[in-house]
Amino acid sequence: MGFRGKIRLIGSGLSRDVTDTSGSQPEVYDRTTITLHWATAILVAIQFLIGRTTNLLQRGPLRVDIWSVHVLFGFAFASVVIFGMFWRATRGRRLPPINRGVLHVTAVAMHRLIDLLLVIMVALGIANVFAHGFPLFNILHFPKFGGDEFMRSVNAWHGLIANIIVVVALLHSAAALFHRHVIKDGVLRRMWPTLTER
Ligand code: HEM
Ligand code: HEM
Repeated sequence: MGFRGKIRLIGSGLSRDVTDTSGSQPEVYDRTTITLHWATAILVAIQFLIGRTTNLLQRGPLRVDIWSVHVLFGFAFASVVIFGMFWRATRGRRLPPINRGVLHVTAVAMHRLIDLLLVIMVALGIANVFAHGFPLFNILHFPKFGGDEFMRSVNAWHGLIANIIVVVALLHSAAALFHRHVIKDGVLRRMWPTLTER
């Protein structure tokens, strides 16, 4: 048996057919959960891109404007993350675990780790605004707390957590693609219902 065959065999042992619980259609997350998930993913990507490129520009009004977009998207990101957690804890659809045993524990641990990192990022982002006394579009000046040492330290932690989130999110995406293309189960489709069935 080839590699793919073996993996599929392991996959069939590990995975539960979600159609068992839902009739003929595989279960998918509700629209709000899905919208919030992809909004979070897109915002992380945009924020990281802005965060890692804007200081390549010369100092000046354009640079302040682009950082201001980062701060506005940052507040949007904060709302999406906080509302997302509230939604999942209250009305969001819960689906049966697809994996069993150690894979299930790993998946849950990874998801909670991502949640924790996102909340830390919201806190550090808002702290960064006040540590900078940020000049939003040079119009609205947030009050500045602490000196330059504090600002550098908050900014460094913000940048470090940004890098960690991106690495963990890439691993998370790789796991989702592994489910679809190697194990060949319906995990990715739960978050992306327009995909063809597996
Ligand atoms: C920065 C980007 C991303 C973040 C922060 C993120 C975050 C999360 C979190 C916290 C969960 C758990 C939800 C729950 O507990 O119910 C989740 C689930 C999921 N994510 Fe992501 N995600 C990101 C990107 C992606 C990408 C790019 C893909 C696909 C390639 C993906 C596919 C999935 C799938 C399929 C699930 C559902 C897993 C299941 O049903 O058990 N995610 N994501
Ligand atoms: C996933 C979300 C986020 C990512 C990936 C991200 C990424 C980054 C990165 C890489 C930097 C540059 C750090 C450095 O110079 O070492 C930065 C700076 C900054 N971020 Fe974020 N960030 C996010 C969310 C937020 C949020 C929620 C806020 C505030 C509401 C925020 C406010 C700021 C501010 C004020 C700066 C400093 C701008 C300056 O130097 O003038 N960020 N961010």
